[in-house]
Amino acid sequence: MKIALVTGASRGLGLEWCRQLNSLGYKVILTARDIEKAQESVNKLISEGINNLFPYKLDVANLDQITDLAGWIKKLFGRLDLLINNAGINSATRAKGNSELQQKNFSLDRLETNEILNMLNINAIAPIMVSRGLKNVLIKGDNPKIINIGSWLGSITLKNNGGNYSYAVSKSALNMMNRALAFDLKNLGITTVVVNPGWVQTNMGGSKAMFTPQEAVNNIILNVINEIQLEHTGSFLNYTGQVHPW
Ligand SMILES: NC(=O)c1ccc[n+]([C@@H]2O[C@H](COP(=O)([O-])OP(=O)(O)OC[C@H]3O[C@@H](n4cnc5c(N)ncnc54)[C@H](OP(=O)(O)O)[C@@H]3O)[C@@H](O)[C@H]2O)c1
Repeated sequence: MKIALVTGASRGLGLEWCRQLNSLGYKVILTARDIEKAQESVNKLISEGINNLFPYKLDVANLDQITDLAGWIKKLFGRLDLLINNAGINSATRAKGNSELQQKNFSLDRLETNEILNMLNINAIAPIMVSRGLKNVLIKGDNPKIINIGSWLGSITLKNNGGNYSYAVSKSALNMMNRALAFDLKNLGITTVVVNPGWVQTNMGGSKAMFTPQEAVNNIILNVINEIQLEHTGSFLNYTGQVHPW
């Protein structure tokens, strides 16, 4: 059986990734920064008849936890075939209705450095650190792939309004991080791409979004994971599988 790992799998797209990858026959390492939430998610999926799930505590910004995780995977499975760098934050969900906090990420006159740095850390730096930490188990995988969940909001070409300095900037930075990572991993046979999932009905996307998590993950599996090869490494792709404007 192939082995997949999903970050930020306590809810939303991450939880759905675990569900669908499992149904494709992967053993899935379901990670969340709160181990109780990870266990709750596993229990929920078990109640749906899904097995072969392995909960693990991972705050993607914690380098020690990444190192521990890599050692645990090496010992238990000896390899990793697919890494989904899904964990992410945005200004609205982080602010949880606190408009003051949201403005610190969004409005030119109210921006706060620490808020922007925090968003960059989780959305752009952490996926690269997780990928680096798991590189040695990915090398042992079968046609190993890294899927970084980006956003259309990270596209500089499509940006035509002000504001959103933290989230949009962090997803643009993820594109460049991935591009550099792709060159560093290509000789090791690891493919790494950024994918825009579209607007999805989660805590982050809200209930009016275009896709259910089920549709969004299914799109990416069919159009991206099943299709990409090493020659596509470093790309920024849409959920349709087409190249997304940078
Ligand atoms: N929904 C959309 O419309 C949309 C559109 C474009 C891109 N995306 C991207 O899709 C990904 C998933 O988002 P979502 O819509 O499913 O949002 P969500 O429901 O808010 O879920 C975000 C997940 O990330 C986790 N997370 C946050 N900080 C973390 C950390 N430091 N370490 C580990 N996990 C952490 C959260 O865990 P906790 O429970 O611990 O907070 C949660 O499980 C994100 O990268 C997001 O930027 C979403």
